[in-house]
Amino acid sequence: MTPTPTYDPLSPAMLRDPYPTYTRMLEEQPVHWHAGMRAWVVVRHADCVRVLREHATFARDPSRVGEKIPDFRQNVQMMDPPEQNPLRQLLVSAMRSQDKDRLFREAVDFVRGRLAAQRPGEPFDLMADVSAPFALHISAALLGVPEPDDADYAEISHGIALRMDSGLAPENIPQGDAARKRLNDLGESWFPRPEGDNGLIANLIRRADKEFSGSHYIRNSAAMMFNASYGTIFAMVGNAAYLLATVPDLLPELSRPSRSATGVDELIRYDGPAQGTSRIAVADTLIEGTRIAAGDNVVTLLAAANRDPRVFADPQDINLDRRPNPHLGFGSGPHACFGSEFGKLSVTAVINALSDEGVRLRLAAEPTRRTTATVRSLDTLPVYLDR
Ligand code: HEM
Repeated sequence: MTPTPTYDPLSPAMLRDPYPTYTRMLEEQPVHWHAGMRAWVVVRHADCVRVLREHATFARDPSRVGEKIPDFRQNVQMMDPPEQNPLRQLLVSAMRSQDKDRLFREAVDFVRGRLAAQRPGEPFDLMADVSAPFALHISAALLGVPEPDDADYAEISHGIALRMDSGLAPENIPQGDAARKRLNDLGESWFPRPEGDNGLIANLIRRADKEFSGSHYIRNSAAMMFNASYGTIFAMVGNAAYLLATVPDLLPELSRPSRSATGVDELIRYDGPAQGTSRIAVADTLIEGTRIAAGDNVVTLLAAANRDPRVFADPQDINLDRRPNPHLGFGSGPHACFGSEFGKLSVTAVINALSDEGVRLRLAAEPTRRTTATVRSLDTLPVYLDR
């Protein structure tokens, strides 16, 4: 019998391509104890959905197992229903009130400008020259806040991405917490006087009632939203651009109007930026017959679930017409992403901008990857623009 695969998410081979290992885990070890992370790793779609939705058994909020959460880490992501409900509803309704058409036009124009600025025939780094400035610009436009300094913000975002891997690399915690505090300080600066009255922050201030106005939960959550937007858009634009540069005819196929509702979802299923998330069991339970004890950490590998053949036909193929596509790239349950429409809109804007400019991407050199496991992201993507 061949040994079951070792799940070592920060190894160079896994950073390059984790999907063959996920495929073996789906068949051979759907639930296993990872000694390094001190967590159960769960990969099958049905099990991941259950962990994410069954919040009575699986907590996001560590205080439910007696852990104290410092003020600077308290936000919507660290709360569970029913306490989470009013804050989440407030954030979701502020998000829904944003003018998506205006933001989409702004996004396409911004990317077109960046593409047009490249010198013909010269390679450039798509991550530094398009993905990062675009993610910063469009996240600031969504929240209606001034654009932070790019180098400064890239450092904050990277520190937070490293913190998400703290189960694997606890030495990242101090740097991650320092980054979170810098992010919260930035968030504080947006509150007293937001720019204009259209952005998400201005909307939040208008909607917040006595319970929330002045509360650090709302300010920390707003800062967290900025980073959730920046970090995932940066990474997803890179993952999508890599596919566009390497899969023949993907751009024209994606640009067909019939694919507008399904194409980007499929790219996120196929190679999304959020590889996993975690919860803590608050009661003894069974997953696939394995006993999980109260207090145990459970990691759900969303990107593995997205290749589960029990749910997705030909999961290793990109099928731009896939429907239904119940991928977990945006999570599920009470913590599911409520920026998903905006995330998809941003990736679609990049596709439209490439199409409108009449250009295609071609690899100029092998890309490099960031050594982060929870967020799957390129660091550099050298490309040519072919006209
Ligand atoms: C392609 C882009 C995106 C991807 C792949 C993505 C992915 C995810 C995933 C997987 C989760 C669930 C995490 C968990 O269950 O622990 C999540 C949560 C979240 N996302 Fe996104 N996201 C994207 C874009 C955005 C954007 C643009 C925003 C902007 C507001 C955003 C805001 C949030 C927030 C606030 C949460 C936490 C919700 C809660 O805990 O109640 N995301 N995202």
